[in-house]
Amino acid sequence: MKPRNIVPDVDYVGAPDFDRRLFDALIPLPDGTSYNSYLVRGRDKTALIDAVEPAKLHVLEAYLADVLKIDYVISNHTEQDHSGGIPWLLGRYPGIQVLSSEPAKPMLVDHLGLDPAKIRPVADGEKLDLGGKTLRFIYTPWVHWPETMSTYLEEDRVLFSCDWFGSHIAATDLFVDGVDCILAEAKRYYAEIMMPFRKTVQKNLDKIKDLDIRVIAPSHGPVHRAPASIIDAYRDWTDDKPHNTVVLPWVTMHGSTGIMVERLIAGLVGHGIDVFPFNMATADIGKLAMALVDAATLVVAAPTVHVGPHPMVFNAVVLANALRPKTRFASIIGSYGWAGKMAEIVQAAMPLLKVEFLPPVIAKGLPKTADLEAIDRLADAIAAKHKEIGLF
Ligand code: FEO
Repeated sequence: MKPRNIVPDVDYVGAPDFDRRLFDALIPLPDGTSYNSYLVRGRDKTALIDAVEPAKLHVLEAYLADVLKIDYVISNHTEQDHSGGIPWLLGRYPGIQVLSSEPAKPMLVDHLGLDPAKIRPVADGEKLDLGGKTLRFIYTPWVHWPETMSTYLEEDRVLFSCDWFGSHIAATDLFVDGVDCILAEAKRYYAEIMMPFRKTVQKNLDKIKDLDIRVIAPSHGPVHRAPASIIDAYRDWTDDKPHNTVVLPWVTMHGSTGIMVERLIAGLVGHGIDVFPFNMATADIGKLAMALVDAATLVVAAPTVHVGPHPMVFNAVVLANALRPKTRFASIIGSYGWAGKMAEIVQAAMPLLKVEFLPPVIAKGLPKTADLEAIDRLADAIAAKHKEIGLF
């Protein structure tokens, strides 16, 4: 297979995966993904940056069929979709050295069973001269594992960023210019794995702000040749100010909670607030995560199953708690048949969210006039809170 050129003497040798539909048995991949790998050739030495998912190793093997010597494989991130091919590389190129961050070394041993003698940790800011191609290693922890680093190619001003700035898109076009959905898919990826580490991502953005970056070559999805737009998007996603929006995961069993959801949407829209409702019986949880990136308020709407919330809505609660969005307010609406502790259980399941809880509205059976008026008051209270923090 013929390698594809990114900049002079830097070739794409990765693999699109058009058919993959789920990552980590959790994250939907509507557009597939890719496992990017890049071969950097200096006058004296050659380095491979990242090493694809084992399921697509045959693609990397085909690209490297005529490459007789590789001196270094740079593991920017231990996770198997980027380092899974390293054991094969160690067999194919016996003299190859694995370069990683200091914290990555024990993780590569634990997760991939690598021989520690084959791994040389590099320091934050350390440079490696390949002969006319100088790689600088930049520790960028928590995008999204603690060991993650990025690699900057000084002469060509390329940042190999691994997961951050990436997107789960399988495309034959190597560059963002030909992919319309890039920012949406990059936001989905940020939401799913990096949002919990928003503050550290901000620090990493500050760390690279003075780098002269001409190209960002991530390890998933297309390459950015005009990187300002993805960097600006990351600044917006990670900053502290939410948007004037409400995320509303809901489900209804016999219609009662559904009536309350419709009433709340009407009330919020009447106040000029955008609402993103997700019927959790069918929702794409990636889209839910994307909406949480910006939302000022989360309202959970659930009927009661036995004592607690309907499990499909509770799934959204667990996810929101894990993703730790910048959301500022939360509330709970829903219904019950004869008794229950649905609202208490939902609130207790979100200890990681730094939110102010607004009083819940819970109806017994079909919502009555008083319940619907309470929903209207909740919409008013949410609008007042949004005004308080300057969203209007
Ligand atoms: Fe794409 Fe964190 O692996």
